[in-house]
Amino acid sequence: MAVDLSPLPKTTESQVDFGAELSGLNIEDLSDSDFIILRKCLYENQVVVIKDQKNLTPRAQYELTRRFDPSAGLYSHGKSIDKRSVLHADLTTIPNQPQVQVIGSGQVAEYEGLSNLNLKHPHHKAFHKKPIPPAEDADFTHFYRWHIDSAMYNLDPPLVTSLLAVQVPSDRRQTLRYDDETDTTLDVPLGTTAFFSGYRLYELLTEEEKHFVRTSKVEYAPHPYIWMSKAKSRSNGLGIISEGLELSENELPPFEESKIKTYPMAWKNPITNKLAMMVYPTCVRKIHLENGDVLDDLAEIRERLYGLQRRAIEPQLVYAHDWKEGDLVLFNNHGLMHSIVGSFKEDEVRLFRQCNMAASRPPLGPGDNLPEAE
Ligand SMILES: [Fe+2]
Repeated sequence: MAVDLSPLPKTTESQVDFGAELSGLNIEDLSDSDFIILRKCLYENQVVVIKDQKNLTPRAQYELTRRFDPSAGLYSHGKSIDKRSVLHADLTTIPNQPQVQVIGSGQVAEYEGLSNLNLKHPHHKAFHKKPIPPAEDADFTHFYRWHIDSAMYNLDPPLVTSLLAVQVPSDRRQTLRYDDETDTTLDVPLGTTAFFSGYRLYELLTEEEKHFVRTSKVEYAPHPYIWMSKAKSRSNGLGIISEGLELSENELPPFEESKIKTYPMAWKNPITNKLAMMVYPTCVRKIHLENGDVLDDLAEIRERLYGLQRRAIEPQLVYAHDWKEGDLVLFNNHGLMHSIVGSFKEDEVRLFRQCNMAASRPPLGPGDNLPEAE
C-alpha cells in the first residue's frame, strides 16, 4: 500500500491550513525510510491523523513518539506530579510504560494493568472564572486551556505528542462559547481536541508585532502549575485573569533559578524553517525585551500577549478534531497550541492514551539551527 496523504475534513467556513490524514504506513513496524516520510509529513502539516490504530500497544506508541526525539526519555512532566499541581487529577501512568498516560472520562474496570479507573476529563469549571452554569453544561462548553504540552520548569516541551483514542462515547456535539469580549461560538464534537497554528498566528501579526515576537523572550514561572493553582482563567481558555491569586515564591516548593525556563516567543520549524508564535500564556511570568529590559507586571504582560494571541482562536482558524476510536493523532508541540474541550456525562466513557517526553533540547529560536542528531 502506498503512503497517502489527504486533508482533514473541514467545515465550509474553515480557513485552517494545517493537518493531514496519513495512510499506508505500518506504524507497529516502521522502517527508517518510512519514519523520514512521517517526520516530514508531521512538520509540514503539524497534525497527522492515522486511522484504525486501536490495537497499537503502549510500547509501540512510546517507540513511535520517541523516534521524533531519540534522546528523550522522561515523561513530559517528569517522574511524579505534585498533588498541588492543577494537572494532578488528570493523568494516570501505564505501569509498564511510564511515558504513556491514560486520560479520559468515566469508569473503566480494567485497562493495561490498571484496574477500577475513575477517569476525570478536566472540566473548565475547576479553572475558569466564569464557567458555563451547571444547567447548561450538557449543551455548552469552553476551551479549557490553550497550552503547549510542557512542564515549563526544569524540563523542555516535548517535540511531538501522540494521542490514541481507545474508546470514544457515541456522537454528540456541544456549542463552545467564547464568552469573551465577543459572542463567538463554535459547534464542536463532544470532547474534541482543538488546535491552532502558531505559524498562522505569526503570519497574522503586523510587522511591528512580528519584530516584538521575534526578538523577545518569555520567562515562565517556577513550578507553574502549582503557582497558578488558585488563579482563574479567561472563559476562552487563553490565559489567566489577573487577580493576584498566583502563589508567592515562598509558598512554592523549593526551586532552582537554573531550572526556570526562558524561551523565545517565536519557535522555528525544523523542516520548513517557518516561525510560530509559541507562548503559553497561563504560565508566563516575565518578558525579556530585545534591549535587555524585563517586563514583570503580570497584568500588563498578560494583556499584551492576549492582544497578540486572541486572533489565533477565531473559529475559522481552529481545527477541532472529531475523535473516532482507533484515531492516532501526532502533533507538532513546538508549532501548535491545543486545548481540551467539553464535558462528558457520567455514562459517557472515554479512554485515550497520551504519550510525550520532555525534549532533549529547548525549542529552536529564530536564530537557531537544528542539531545534527535530529
Ligand atoms: Fe495537552
